[in-house]
Amino acid sequence: MNASPASPERDPARLLQDRPGGDFLVHRDIYRDPEVFAWEMEHVFEGTWNLVGLASQLPRPYDFITTSIGRAPIIISRAGNGELHCLLNTCRHKGALVCHHEQGSARSFVCQYHGWAYACDGRNVLVNHRDAGAYGPAFDAHEHDHDLVPVARFANYRGLLFASLRADVPELDDYLGDLRPLIDLVIDQSPQGVECVGGRGVFVYEGNWKLQMENGVDPYHFASTHVSYIQSLQRRAEKTSVYSGFSSGELQRGSFAFAHGHNAMWGPAPAGKPTPLSFSLDEIRARVGEDRLRWMQHVRNITLFPNAQIADNAALQLRIWRPLSAERTEMRTFCLAPVGEPPQARRMRIRQYEEFFNPGGLATPDDIANYEDCQRGFGARTIDWQQGHARGATLMQAGANDAARELGIEPLSCVVGPFNLGDETVMHATYRTWLDLIQRGRQRAGSGA
Ligand code: FES
Ligand code: FE
Repeated sequence: MNASPASPERDPARLLQDRPGGDFLVHRDIYRDPEVFAWEMEHVFEGTWNLVGLASQLPRPYDFITTSIGRAPIIISRAGNGELHCLLNTCRHKGALVCHHEQGSARSFVCQYHGWAYACDGRNVLVNHRDAGAYGPAFDAHEHDHDLVPVARFANYRGLLFASLRADVPELDDYLGDLRPLIDLVIDQSPQGVECVGGRGVFVYEGNWKLQMENGVDPYHFASTHVSYIQSLQRRAEKTSVYSGFSSGELQRGSFAFAHGHNAMWGPAPAGKPTPLSFSLDEIRARVGEDRLRWMQHVRNITLFPNAQIADNAALQLRIWRPLSAERTEMRTFCLAPVGEPPQARRMRIRQYEEFFNPGGLATPDDIANYEDCQRGFGARTIDWQQGHARGATLMQAGANDAARELGIEPLSCVVGPFNLGDETVMHATYRTWLDLIQRGRQRAGSGA
């Protein structure tokens, strides 16, 4: 018998066990239940800001990219005056996509179904054979009736483009909050910010999107999952003594959890790694100061909840995920780089990116194999609760620690500990936000608001 809408089986609160003292469990249904997936589409992805691209992907007038927010296809286009527009990619006539390309340049978008055309700012410029038609006055009742519909909110944080289908979201600066200084540590690696290196990776894995989200800030898996990568670095170091792999010793790692679901993990840069910074340290120090320069030289992985991560370690990667079902996820991955870095540094960056991050590299296939293994494991329906969010509970502290104070930020919680700590508590605040969005969205839907 199906559970009724009001029954405890359909209450999203059943999906988290959240008790004082870091006693925190997530139910396996969050990774496998189609109803949970439907809530996520409507209330998480379509209920808040999403990272939709980089301004550097469309540098010239009339450039465009397409992507999606939850189920909604969108176009981001640059008009002739340089202004960016974020539009729903659906013809006002009968709904067909008006742009099928992932990226390109176009002064207008012409729907291939009946030929309606739209300028790159979304204005309808042609209702095909209008003169021969028999439209009554109601057809033109409102000025923008035939234009592509803009998303409710669209904003740019230092070249990162965000959009929301709902208007009642916080201002973007408030949404990103104290995550911004961590994003700045990426952007400020060049005086002109970072850009998207041409090309991207696209792949689909048979697993829930949250497996990627968790893994992106999971240092615990590195030594066991990426053995072949670590061994190849060690072998190379024996031959060249250029790149001696990841150090441990006295070094520390930590994490920050923020409001609105964002989080970050940080750690020391691999010993012997060619400098992660392509510009002179003096130039960067003069621009950002000594403390931030030191932080810039760390590695960091950042979750921009709910749909993206920036990994700044072996190279600099942006990942954007598009959940296709509870058990299927499409990934788009981009190599980012500081604008204007010397060609030799750019070459090395791209090689390291290919080696570690590319879908055919030494790390990503191992990660994906794990996600798909987990998803298959979730087929054991008699097991309800994950034990995967407990590490770090004894080291978690509310508010800022010394590391946060150095950065001038006030996270919800912080962890700092030994190199092999592998904190997992960083996801607690993220899942609280996740649940809160679903609960508030369902209440809103229930009240008709
Ligand atoms: Fe686009 Fe008919 S659906 S013109
Ligand atoms: Fe990994």
